[in-house]
Amino acid sequence: MLSFRNKLNENDPERIRQISASTGFFDATDVEISVNLAHNALNGQKHANDNIEEPCFLLAEDNGKTVGYACFGKIQDCNSAYELHLISTLSDYRGHGVGRKMMARLLETVRELGGKKLFVKTEGTEQYLPTRKFYEACGFKLEAVLKEYYDDKDDCYIYSYKFYDDDAANTIPAE
Ligand SMILES: CC(C)(COP(=O)(O)OP(=O)(O)OC[C@H]1O[C@@H](n2cnc3c(N)ncnc32)[C@H](O)[C@@H]1OP(=O)(O)O)[C@@H](O)C(=O)NCCC(=O)NCCS
Repeated sequence: MLSFRNKLNENDPERIRQISASTGFFDATDVEISVNLAHNALNGQKHANDNIEEPCFLLAEDNGKTVGYACFGKIQDCNSAYELHLISTLSDYRGHGVGRKMMARLLETVRELGGKKLFVKTEGTEQYLPTRKFYEACGFKLEAVLKEYYDDKDDCYIYSYKFYDDDAANTIPAE
């Protein structure tokens, strides 16, 4: 049974490192970025009240074991646009519905925060095809392809999820 939380604890940066590394998708620098974001969020929490601080984390737990995380935040200088910075499922759990449930919860949270649009950038390589399928399965639409963005053989795909005022229009597509 999956449960979710936004508040980080002292053990989370290390758990986030393990989840990121387990995917085999990220190099050491990328893994370190996710750990640093978690440390920053943890420090921010200490100075915050109960409101969700940014960057915001969402952690998915399976009977107490952390099996996925996402990091997102409001885009600076934008009124109501958010960006999903990172999302990963622990490799043993991948393809079993954790990502979809985590995304549903995340979309709910961003909407509650007043988000009108959630953007995510991902890579155009073959390795990231399942990731692109994942975003599409979660209701994201391809907004733009930035050619040769990551390197001369790797484009950047920008997807977005649009929130509507009508609750019924905000459902994540069924499995
Ligand atoms: C992307 C990721 C977070 C998705 O989480 P997940 O737990 O594997 O996703 P789910 O099992 O909930 O899959 C949801 C849907 O995504 C699509 N999907 C997931 N994996 C897929 C695959 N290998 N091939 C095709 N579609 C896939 C399917 O539509 C799936 O729904 P279905 O199972 O009903 O067909 C996870 O696979 C991951 O950590 N990948 C590596 C890291 C990464 O790419 N992160 C994003 C960086 S931008």
